[in-house]
Amino acid sequence: MDTKPVKTLALLASGEGTNAQTLWRYFINNSRAKVWGVACNRSKAGVYARAEGDKVHHIQFASSPEGFAQLLHTFLQDGVTHVVLAGFLKAIPAEWVNTYPGKIINIHPSLLPKYGGMGMYGMHVHQAVKAAGEKESGITIHTVTAVYDEGPILFQAKTTLAPTDDADAIRQKVQELEYRYFAQVVDHVVSGTPLPE
Ligand code: GAR
Repeated sequence: MDTKPVKTLALLASGEGTNAQTLWRYFINNSRAKVWGVACNRSKAGVYARAEGDKVHHIQFASSPEGFAQLLHTFLQDGVTHVVLAGFLKAIPAEWVNTYPGKIINIHPSLLPKYGGMGMYGMHVHQAVKAAGEKESGITIHTVTAVYDEGPILFQAKTTLAPTDDADAIRQKVQELEYRYFAQVVDHVVSGTPLPE
């Protein structure tokens, strides 16, 4: 039996890279998919040290039209089949969406369509959720289309918020959901394993 992984995932990150790390660790020795590595658009970001520590391929790229085009070229040369946005905070160009239709997956730290759109990322989301006095928040995992944060939803999970939860407490609750579910949902998309309950 051929046990070579059939899918190759490229991860994109912009900051700490805790979600990217969860993903590459999940797919170590996985027969369905392997991780190509992680590309980050910022010169200084926690993700580089995480990738070095785990001996994962990592590169910096410019999030300019030329930078995106060059990275896309690299992905095609290297046989990347799916792109996973793991805390990536820039819009994805249409050329990428056309090249990888339904194969670019994003995680967003709120229950979309609430608290999505340009400028809504990371702590900005949790601060807005707190300011609105929401009783719950959660995660949304969706495929990426040309419209930012509006691609078809694959999976959502909720967490209950207490009135005493500040934005940082909300972040922690949401991150727990991210670490619990993201890799499983990506596995589902790339190889048809069941979605988490
Ligand atoms: C994560 O919470 C992710 O959902 C969010 O950024 C954080 C990155 O943390 N993504 C967005 O806000 C996308 N709009 P990480 O770098 O530690 O994974």
